[in-house]
Amino acid sequence: MIKLGVNIDHIATLRQARGENFPSLLKAVAICEKAGADSITTHLREDRRHIQDRDVFEIKECMRTRLNFEMSACDEIVNIALKLQPYSVCIVPEKRQELTTEGGLDVEGQKAHLQEVVKKLQGKGIIVSMFIDAKENQIQACADIKANAVEIHTGKYANLFKSGKEKAQEELEKIKQSAILAKQNNLIFNAGHGLDYNNVSDICEIKNLNELNIGFSIIAQAVFDGLEKAVSDIKKILLNY
Ligand code: PXP
Repeated sequence: MIKLGVNIDHIATLRQARGENFPSLLKAVAICEKAGADSITTHLREDRRHIQDRDVFEIKECMRTRLNFEMSACDEIVNIALKLQPYSVCIVPEKRQELTTEGGLDVEGQKAHLQEVVKKLQGKGIIVSMFIDAKENQIQACADIKANAVEIHTGKYANLFKSGKEKAQEELEKIKQSAILAKQNNLIFNAGHGLDYNNVSDICEIKNLNELNIGFSIIAQAVFDGLEKAVSDIKKILLNY
């Protein structure tokens, strides 16, 4: 069974837009869990544009499933993660001006620093994942620094899929190859970014896939259908695999 991680950052985006204390993230977590989410993902960005420090501690306190904490590898956020002690973290690259996480982390290019960060986090019993592009050298680098997991950035696949399923085949193949390589290196294999109700099925065909992290499409759909239905509709697709 492929697990579903629901990223609730954009519920916080809505809240921050008016500086109010609603919509409530804790209520959102409870609804996502009821609807079948296996984990909840939040990204405490360095610029705090959506999720705030208080949110992650409150969510961890109240939730019933697992907290997956997306984070950059800068000292400030690493220290928060060490205090928070989420079930898992996913280390992502961060650029201040980007709309969303635009590409994978260059693990190969910063192995020494990331190895230190991985060791510190694992020392607190946290499972550490790296958000990377579907590239052999990056998977190898993740294995070298002894990360527990990789999350493959599916953004390129999702963009190509918009012009037709066939156009996305080559990228899908790269993701499949990454899954094979991850297995050979004993890395847990997760994926996410840009996935939605239409493009997720082909990704679900990938063997050895542990968990998908999906955010924007679910929260957007929730505007029309409500959060519970938006989550359970995507969960139903994942349950077929
Ligand atoms: N996984 C990671 C590591 C991400 O950074 C994001 C975006 O915050 C997602 C998954 C979810 O992407 P989307 O919101 O496009 O579903």
